[in-house]
Amino acid sequence: MLQMVTELLRSEGHEVFPFSNIDAAAEALETQRPDLVVTDLYLDKNKTPYGLDMLQKARSVTPPATVIMITGFATIETAVDAMKKGAFDYLAKPFKIDDFKLCIRRALSYSEAVSENVYLRKQLKKKYQFNQLIGTSQEMQDVFKMIERVADTDSTVLILGESGTGKELIARALHYNSRRQFAPFVPINCSALPENLLESELFGHRKGAFTGAVTDKKGLFQEADGGTIFLDEIGTMPAVLQSRLLRVLQEKEVRRVGDNVPMTVNVRVLAATNETLEKRIKEGTFREDLYYRLNVIPIHMPALREHKEDLPLLVVHFLKGRLNPKNGKPYQITRKAMELLSQHDWPGNVRELENAIERGCALCDDGVVRIADLPPMFQKIASSSDDNDEIIEVKATPPSPSDTQIRTAKEAAAAATHAPTGFAQPIASLKDFLREQESAYLNRALAQTGGDKEAAAQLLGVSVATLYRKLAEVESPA
Ligand SMILES: Nc1ncnc2c1ncn2[C@@H]1O[C@H](COP(=O)(O)OP(=O)(O)OP(=O)(O)O)[C@@H](O)[C@H]1O
Ligand SMILES: [Mg+2]
Repeated sequence: MLQMVTELLRSEGHEVFPFSNIDAAAEALETQRPDLVVTDLYLDKNKTPYGLDMLQKARSVTPPATVIMITGFATIETAVDAMKKGAFDYLAKPFKIDDFKLCIRRALSYSEAVSENVYLRKQLKKKYQFNQLIGTSQEMQDVFKMIERVADTDSTVLILGESGTGKELIARALHYNSRRQFAPFVPINCSALPENLLESELFGHRKGAFTGAVTDKKGLFQEADGGTIFLDEIGTMPAVLQSRLLRVLQEKEVRRVGDNVPMTVNVRVLAATNETLEKRIKEGTFREDLYYRLNVIPIHMPALREHKEDLPLLVVHFLKGRLNPKNGKPYQITRKAMELLSQHDWPGNVRELENAIERGCALCDDGVVRIADLPPMFQKIASSSDDNDEIIEVKATPPSPSDTQIRTAKEAAAAATHAPTGFAQPIASLKDFLREQESAYLNRALAQTGGDKEAAAQLLGVSVATLYRKLAEVESPA
């Protein structure tokens, strides 16, 4: 059921975090702040009242999550009770896929309607978004401080820094920490498109404006209305477009290609470049007046070699980001490998480091990244005595995010699917384990009803005959 519902929701384009355990799910309520919680009434057979617990938790976070209960026929009464306690709706098993989809849509439009409490959400998003930015060095702390200061303004920000230093990440952080966060964030790489296409991409065009313009087309500025547009590699923007961009910044209006009537847009502009624009200005390929317009607030991203002290943190962050499919645990790294990584200068900055870790994880065969798994250049500087080295253990982020790094959405989902279920020892066999669980469960039901088998059967949602059969099975296994 969990898998089916998960796939269904994903196919509808939702981000889904499946849990088969109520504690992990409750934890995710805090870290993910979902819009919607879909829960079975009977989640964890060792706990009462299961789904009701989840409901109460989901309703108590801010903003409260909308809850849909899934229930068996025998428990409809409880489901109705759940609705009184704040569930949005319930679905009785078995249900039709279309009914489920409809129910989800209604619930989500409801939750959208009640989420006008933008400021609360902003605080939460803020927490979430900043967690993806790693760095305790002074250099990175300065960047974070700057983001906090300017995020919620409409100022144009120019993000400067070498390739791979995290400029786009910063642009996103600015957007998601501004009041524009619910409107689109639209990134565009100015060097990726030829001049004529870039113009119509940015500003749109009228039907017939040029060969191939068979319909009217909205430009990205219009798409981003109310939100943020991120102009990456602004230094490569062709001169003609620079003047048009300048006009947009000054007049707050755009004109589609082939159109005489300008349209007003409300867009915040962020730009990034990995080259010094001053040089382009001297060469005459970048407009000085545009430069001053864009450079209202500059944010300088340090090169990784300038804040090497963050390197181990980043390595751990990237190791945690991908769990070893063999055991569901984060990858680890040897101390020697980490040392070698720290000695490198990283001209490609954080991106290069991230790629090296990704490669290492893919190549290593026992979940530990060793020197041999690093890119070839590291092999040359390593000595043979570096093998079989001490391992730096990378712990999965604990369920309670007490340290500064809280899980990213992806990590949380991965951790949830692979979460250790709390078994201290390996279990003899699945069959034995299930029998033990079933036995304990039946005994609990019987204890609750004072040994009354009929009442226990009702409690469990099975027929009395089934209960008798189950009791016989657990008492004298075949
Ligand atoms: N401080 C950081 N913490 C965590 N991840 C980071 C950090 N800085 C960069 N990264 C990661 O490094 C990668 C490169 O970052 P990003 O794409 O933002 O760089 P960029 O400056 O835009 O590079 P380019 O100039 O090549 O486009 C991304 O995967 C990003 O998530
Ligand atoms: Mg970039």
